[in-house]
Amino acid sequence: MKIPLLLLSFALILPFSVTSSVHLTLRQGSSLSVDKFGDTLASEDGAFAAGFYPVGENAYCFAIWFSKPSCSIHDCTVVWMANRDHPVNGRSSKLSLRKNGELALIDADRTVVWNTSTGSSSGSSMKLLQLLDTGNLVLRDKQNVVFWQSFDSPTNTLLPLQKLTRNTPLVSSRSKNNFSSGYYRLYFDNDNVLRLLFDGPKIKSVYWPDLTVSIWDSGRTSFNDSRVATLDAYGNFTSSDDLKFLTSDYGAKVRRRLTVDYDGNVRVYSQSEAEEWSVSWQAKSNPCTICGTCGPNSMCTYHPREGRSCICAPGYEREDLSDWTQGCKAKFNSVCDSKVETEFVELPHANFYGYDKGSSPNYTLEMCKKKCLDLCNCLGFQYKYTKCYPKSLLLNGQYSPGVDGAIYFKLPKSNVSYKLPRTEYAALQCPANEVLLPRTYVKRKESLAIKILLIFVTAIAGMEAIAVLTVWCFLLGTRPEKGGAHIDGYHAGPTGFRRFTYDELKKATRNFSEEIGRGSGGIVYKAVLSDCRVAAVKRLNEANQGENEFLAEVSTIGNLNHMNLIDMWGYCAEGKHRLLIYEFMEHGSLAENLSSPTELDWSKRFEIALGSARGLAYLHEEFLEWVLHCDVKPQNILLDSTYQPKVADFGLSKILKREGLKNSIFSRIRGTRGYMAPEWVYNMPVTAKVDVYSYGIVLLELVTGRSPMGGLANTEGGDENESKRLTSWVRERKRTGVPMGTWIKEIVDPRLTGEFDNRKIEVLVAMALQCVEEDRDARPTMSQVVEMLLHYGDEDEMILV
Ligand SMILES: *[C@@H]1O[C@H](CO)[C@@H](O)[C@H](O)[C@H]1NC(C)=O
Ligand SMILES: *[C@@H]1O[C@H](CO)[C@@H](O)[C@H](O)[C@H]1NC(C)=O
Ligand SMILES: *[C@@H]1O[C@H](CO)[C@@H](O)[C@H](O)[C@H]1NC(C)=O
Ligand SMILES: *[C@@H]1O[C@H](CO)[C@@H](O)[C@H](O)[C@H]1NC(C)=O
Ligand SMILES: *[C@@H]1O[C@H](CO)[C@@H](O)[C@H](O)[C@H]1NC(C)=O
Ligand SMILES: *[C@@H]1O[C@H](CO)[C@@H](O)[C@H](O)[C@H]1NC(C)=O
Repeated sequence: MKIPLLLLSFALILPFSVTSSVHLTLRQGSSLSVDKFGDTLASEDGAFAAGFYPVGENAYCFAIWFSKPSCSIHDCTVVWMANRDHPVNGRSSKLSLRKNGELALIDADRTVVWNTSTGSSSGSSMKLLQLLDTGNLVLRDKQNVVFWQSFDSPTNTLLPLQKLTRNTPLVSSRSKNNFSSGYYRLYFDNDNVLRLLFDGPKIKSVYWPDLTVSIWDSGRTSFNDSRVATLDAYGNFTSSDDLKFLTSDYGAKVRRRLTVDYDGNVRVYSQSEAEEWSVSWQAKSNPCTICGTCGPNSMCTYHPREGRSCICAPGYEREDLSDWTQGCKAKFNSVCDSKVETEFVELPHANFYGYDKGSSPNYTLEMCKKKCLDLCNCLGFQYKYTKCYPKSLLLNGQYSPGVDGAIYFKLPKSNVSYKLPRTEYAALQCPANEVLLPRTYVKRKESLAIKILLIFVTAIAGMEAIAVLTVWCFLLGTRPEKGGAHIDGYHAGPTGFRRFTYDELKKATRNFSEEIGRGSGGIVYKAVLSDCRVAAVKRLNEANQGENEFLAEVSTIGNLNHMNLIDMWGYCAEGKHRLLIYEFMEHGSLAENLSSPTELDWSKRFEIALGSARGLAYLHEEFLEWVLHCDVKPQNILLDSTYQPKVADFGLSKILKREGLKNSIFSRIRGTRGYMAPEWVYNMPVTAKVDVYSYGIVLLELVTGRSPMGGLANTEGGDENESKRLTSWVRERKRTGVPMGTWIKEIVDPRLTGEFDNRKIEVLVAMALQCVEEDRDARPTMSQVVEMLLHYGDEDEMILV
């Protein structure tokens, strides 16, 4: 068998190996790469690690986290981030300690996302990057002169011995799953007092220490302008404004951190060996007194066991389902119009702080109602002990038994009574949408030597591949080991690609209830995953394939990353069940779009032609793994919300090798009638050119709207020479249809109603016909197709016959 030998040759020279490497220092001129899973810097005692941390789909930040007790990369406790607001791509990004002594974080497109600006100040001494046992990442020279340290630019966390100073406020994260800068900050104010500020999109307000109490009464002073605070290793916090506290576990030798949490509270957390983090101090005991918690027109409620939650005021609904700080919006138009009849809806134990339009003592309830009616923009009022507070904005809402008085909302009169929505506790909320970075990777620029080596190996691989391919379309893994530890390491890996349980998928698809398609080897269902992502789950027909073999193939496919290839998120292999989980594509397949009175105008069709060509070119050439699709057809080209195409179902031919070798000629043939290259039929060696042929047919279909199965794309029928019929029909029209232009009118999809460019169609058709040449050597490669499509406008550069 040739495969193992071939795999070995790949493994030896692959520039991006997946083995993990932990460094203690990083020297000048070297770098940490996002491509290598586990390429991290560790502190000497192993308590901290620094490396690329996933913050979303294909999005990474360079971070420092606690690595003891060990954590899986998705739920480590992060204490610092270099680029929290500018994540980098999941491939080709790196943190580089450059020759000039500057530390720079470089994105896949080679832009510098973050740097330490230590390039010039250097002198000539060699610098190195080291993660100290305190969690401080320092750039220093051999004489221990520190040029830069992470302790000087904290994000949301202060570690023991780190100084909080006038220049370095702590800023919360946006939410539990969103590490970018949030709205809460702990900082030294102009009067030297350490404060908490909510700096939201709609309001801005200080909420700690309590503004209704004087600085003195809060135990602070504004006279010491050194503006510095620290927490020591025993849990003793001291600040220059006289704020002092000891944590509840003062003295114990444990790991600690002080964090401004995304909910706006400041907490000190402690952790002893192998235990969960526990809170040993917090600034606010009632989280509902934290400003901005629930946003406008909503109220905060707090339950000691369930935690904090928000509810919309009656008559209002949520603005953004993933983000309570956006609050709620009115379900009605306006109560400012005198023609609108209004009523007052009472809610006891509720209040909104601030934004009063005056306060009137000695009012009866009726007088207060009258006052609010007379004020156009009065949204309601608080009525408490004969005092009346009309509100122009409903902010800082609280709803709890401890609140005195009641709120009366002014709402349009309704024949159905207003209800308070049920309380949703925080845990039930879906996280914010994930960050998704476009996968626009620059082509790597290898050194000449590597390039030659690659070409050499690819050539050998190609030759061997052709030999092997006389049996079936196949797919090579970069990773030689199959199954076992290596696979597991990969799954914990940075792409978020993971294993799902069957039960999980059963739940996500609601017991496989919503079928969205049938493709080679299985039925596809719509699913909503537990993290709220919408997915397509393909349930494969029973495959006679061992689990390890399946895993090896699946993880290879999962590793393919291109904006024009469907993204695989994971798989399930349990007992006889084999399922694949893909991203969900809003606009379905190209086949569906072509067979309906369609939205596909000429420019969309062209983008689809170009995008699918890019995806296939990547499969064939750019990625070292040599993957043939073997079943290119409109059913396997899916369209996202913007009609960008993504090629689906690649690599399946290997996974689905049901009948395997035993069934001679039948099992050899892959693909779909109408789109199959002649090589299949004439028993000739199969190369990437089979995909080029099928792609050519798809192009003809895009232009003419006719399926190779005969007639317009939606009609059924045809015989064994279907593709030839479409091809020769177009050739015939082209040959006989002089003067130029008339033949184009004849063949073009009537649904395009004249809105296209004759010249461009001509070029596209010429290329399609070249792709479907009988002689495979006369067909272009997929990357030549991409080149030609990219230059189709520059008439001089077109070199087509
Ligand atoms: C480094 O960052 C500074 C700002 O922090 C910026 O002004 C400078 O241009 C950056 N240098 C590079 C090489 O990107
Ligand atoms: C995180 O929040 C920022 C600010 O609202 C937003 O721009 C970004 O897209 C969010 N990313 C995620 C993880 O949802
Ligand atoms: C806490 O630290 C401060 C300043 O370092 C010190 O004066 C104080 O005695 C410490 N308190 C305790 C209980 O150790
Ligand atoms: C101001 O605060 C710093 C840090 O806590 C302290 O060392 C210093 O003695 C204080 N100065 C005065 C005048 O109290
Ligand atoms: C409210 O009314 C009471 C008696 O009716 C009176 O004594 C008091 O002065 C009034 N308060 C104000 C602020 O007008
Ligand atoms: C409420 O009023 C609307 C029109 O104002 C009417 O369409 C609806 O049927 C009414 N509902 C009930 C329950 O009376």
